[in-house]
Amino acid sequence: MILADCIVSRCNQLLTCRGPIPKRKDDLKDVGVLANGSIASSEGKIVFVGEDEDLKKNVQLVDGGKHIDGQGYVGLPGFVDSHTHLPFAGSREEEFKLRLEGHTYQQLAEKGMGIQTTVNATREATREDLVRLSLERLDSMLTHGTTTTEAKSGYGLNIEDELKQLYAIRQANNTHPIDIVSTFMGAHEVPKEYRSRKEDYIEILTQEILPRVRENQLAEFFDVFCEEGVYSIEETRHLIRTAKAEGFKIKLHADEFAPLGGAVLAAEEGAVSADHLIAISDEGIDTLARSQTVATLLPGVSFFLMQDKKAPARKLIDKGAIVALATDFNPGSSMTESLFFVMQLAVFTLKMGVEEAVNAVTANASYALTRDQEIGSLEVGKKMDLVLCRAPHYLTLVYHFGINPIKHVIKNGNVVLKDGIVMSEKNGEA
Ligand code: NIG
Ligand code: FE
Repeated sequence: MILADCIVSRCNQLLTCRGPIPKRKDDLKDVGVLANGSIASSEGKIVFVGEDEDLKKNVQLVDGGKHIDGQGYVGLPGFVDSHTHLPFAGSREEEFKLRLEGHTYQQLAEKGMGIQTTVNATREATREDLVRLSLERLDSMLTHGTTTTEAKSGYGLNIEDELKQLYAIRQANNTHPIDIVSTFMGAHEVPKEYRSRKEDYIEILTQEILPRVRENQLAEFFDVFCEEGVYSIEETRHLIRTAKAEGFKIKLHADEFAPLGGAVLAAEEGAVSADHLIAISDEGIDTLARSQTVATLLPGVSFFLMQDKKAPARKLIDKGAIVALATDFNPGSSMTESLFFVMQLAVFTLKMGVEEAVNAVTANASYALTRDQEIGSLEVGKKMDLVLCRAPHYLTLVYHFGINPIKHVIKNGNVVLKDGIVMSEKNGEA
């Protein structure tokens, strides 16, 4: 008999999203549906996934263990949000209003609004402020099914405030049930005090801030905003190579507005992911398709900026790229913590299939954080990170849009969201 301390039985459908991971092309259409599916875990790790009859024969609940009846629910792996700008202060409603009146995001950025507004607010905030804001936002993420998230710095743009953001991420990770993977993004923008001498900032970034981040093990990834008017391809290459030499894994904000060639650079440099890609070229698509670099699409951005232009999800998938989805949660271009909503947007605005979108927020998203051995699918040995949605069928998760069907979330075998309410402690069950 297999002993378990957590069992969820008889889900209408259990989407295992089982590997191999990463998934490309037709593999993205397979979400591993188990009708009447059950799952069990012990000490946070999955020990059984299968049909309910087999569960009954093979699995025994230990005294004091918990059992959830999954009837009426669709179960799927905890969502993995591989691109967020979590620890920022302030918000940008004023800028939003101006955009509604016809000003573009880039026009406003040129006038000193945009990222710089949030940099000012974040510099003024204390580390404790950033922790408190992050924890509130993590609760919101959990309510929408996210169990692992990435979080970037990049609103400090000097040593003190970049480190402050990264320490806030560390503290939030130690406090909240959601696991956080940290990214250093000192190259998110050129700070206003260095606009006329960008080389000096690049020098500070690579010679002073980066070593401190590494010494204190404050980030696993390094990210650059490779964009017209921000960091050029040459500058980005230099930054990435320096970060790689210091042991960082690479992500890139690539080809968001202008087709600079960030996607090709990301693949050439062995980046784990190239993100955005609204303006990617055909060469970029072909290069990513042949590479191990994940194409991370952020449809919240085109939606929030009300742009007709969208990332070419269909071309990327059909050519064989590893496609993931993420929120890009930030106050300027995608103010949402809901990866669940982003999954719906991917279907409605990027023409991804529901199955493709599910795999892109689970299996492939775990690969975009190099966590595919631990999370991203419901398989024996992986973490018991499970989302339970009140729905008859997984298609309903997108078909019935604009509502939140997520009722329960289990993280590491602990119930951390119960009937839509966040449980308070790191280990769940308040
Ligand atoms: O990923 N593109 C650059 N950075 C963010 C936007 C940040 C902001 O506007 O504050 C993004 O879209
Ligand atoms: Fe971003």
